[in-house]
Amino acid sequence: MSKNFNFIRVILSTKSLTVGVVLAIIVAGVLIIFSNKNDFGYSQVDKVDRGELLAEFEGAYLEDIKANGTVVEMDMVAQESEIEIFDGYKTKVWAYNGTVPGPEIRIKLGDKLKINFTNNLPQDTTIHFHGVRVPNAMDGVPGVTQDPIKPGEKFVYEFVPKDAGTYWFHPHVRTSEQVERGLFGTLIVEDEVDAKYSQDVMWLVDDWRMTEDMQVYGEFNTPMDLMHDGRWGNVITVNGKLDEVLNVSPGERIRLRFVNASNARIYIPNFKDLEAKIIAVDGMNVKEVFDFGNLELSPGNRIDIDITIPKDATGKEYQLYDNFRQEENKLAKIRVTGKPVETPEFGFPVNLKVPDWENATEVSIDKEYRLNARRKTGQGMGMMGGTEWTINEKAYPDYDPYTFKYAEFNTMRFTNQSARLHPMHLHGQFFKVIARDGVAVSEPYFRDTVLVYPNQTVDLALVPLDKGVWVNHCHILEHAEAGMVTAVTVE
Ligand code: C2O
Ligand code: CU
Repeated sequence: MSKNFNFIRVILSTKSLTVGVVLAIIVAGVLIIFSNKNDFGYSQVDKVDRGELLAEFEGAYLEDIKANGTVVEMDMVAQESEIEIFDGYKTKVWAYNGTVPGPEIRIKLGDKLKINFTNNLPQDTTIHFHGVRVPNAMDGVPGVTQDPIKPGEKFVYEFVPKDAGTYWFHPHVRTSEQVERGLFGTLIVEDEVDAKYSQDVMWLVDDWRMTEDMQVYGEFNTPMDLMHDGRWGNVITVNGKLDEVLNVSPGERIRLRFVNASNARIYIPNFKDLEAKIIAVDGMNVKEVFDFGNLELSPGNRIDIDITIPKDATGKEYQLYDNFRQEENKLAKIRVTGKPVETPEFGFPVNLKVPDWENATEVSIDKEYRLNARRKTGQGMGMMGGTEWTINEKAYPDYDPYTFKYAEFNTMRFTNQSARLHPMHLHGQFFKVIARDGVAVSEPYFRDTVLVYPNQTVDLALVPLDKGVWVNHCHILEHAEAGMVTAVTVE
């Protein structure tokens, strides 16, 4: 007590005033640094100017796009249908325009896409265009951006995508059931460089839980699936086939686009002996290409690769494997036949404007999302109750609202407090991962979905350029169905 008193008296004495002020500032500084450090050792106050980080973002992607006047219009119907996955067996599915995957829509950057959609399903539905920066009203989220489309009803989806790249679409109502039954398709927004590849090919990867008579197992959101990592299937298809084969000639240069439409399964796809470079992640070109075969393809993610088939590869087959878990799953293959052709020569299509944001971890975290599970008692989930997946202790439709600042540098954190995987997806924006478990990482690309491992923390930075209310959820569809959804407003 008296020591404190003396200290204050020293500060107050006129002679020592300057020394006192300096001392006080140092003490206060030390106190702020220690009291505001979080578990990961970085400051809760901004140590770099956000304006500098924002300036680095300049030109990374467009705020808006000029439509070129072309309208690509199509009809799309969601309906019950039958497909043949296993020879001689008809599998009952729900499908867009009768096929699984649904239509592969290809438009050019600047085109307007207009889809006259009819719901002929026995349930409500909507369409969400995953990763596409659409006007908020076209985002397909019931109760947030539109009313659910009832059986027999129509809805027109109409927008000009702002970015070239690989996207996909799927329902956003009872998603874990509707996607598993076969409702999804792909949207490719072509860039000029795409025309230079020998072939530009989509490989959509999906897994199914099938019964012995080759039907989609009809019980969804089982207590086991909810409690664990969602519904992992027992059959994996690429483009709806068990043995998808791409035929190529030696020397061809291929753009291969991967989409993971599985409810929950995560892949690390790779070719053991074919050199391939990743040129785009989640639709957007990367800043510098890197080797294919180490990046997880979580539900919702896309990876685009650039492969040149060796000139002397005639007769070879290249098998694509998935190595996410111990077992090795065969996915699809490339078969090389015929005479060598000229290899198209051009640089990798990269986006040099992707910011490095090396100092991004010197900025405080604006919003933390804690991911967790809790037991739910009673209410139709059976005697044992069930699992609810929460974000900040809330299960959707209850959620913890937050507003990100439009066209400014914002940060957020996912803290996985559970022992399960959570590929987190933010609608309507691209973000960059800046740290994992508090350690800065530099991914040379943007994403719209990031896998958060058990007990891990992932920090993101983003400059939102699209206003509206956007959901932010786990893309393990059973987790989302069980509440793991929140929403952010950009304004
Ligand atoms: Cu593919 Cu709400 O997401
Ligand atoms: Cu999850």
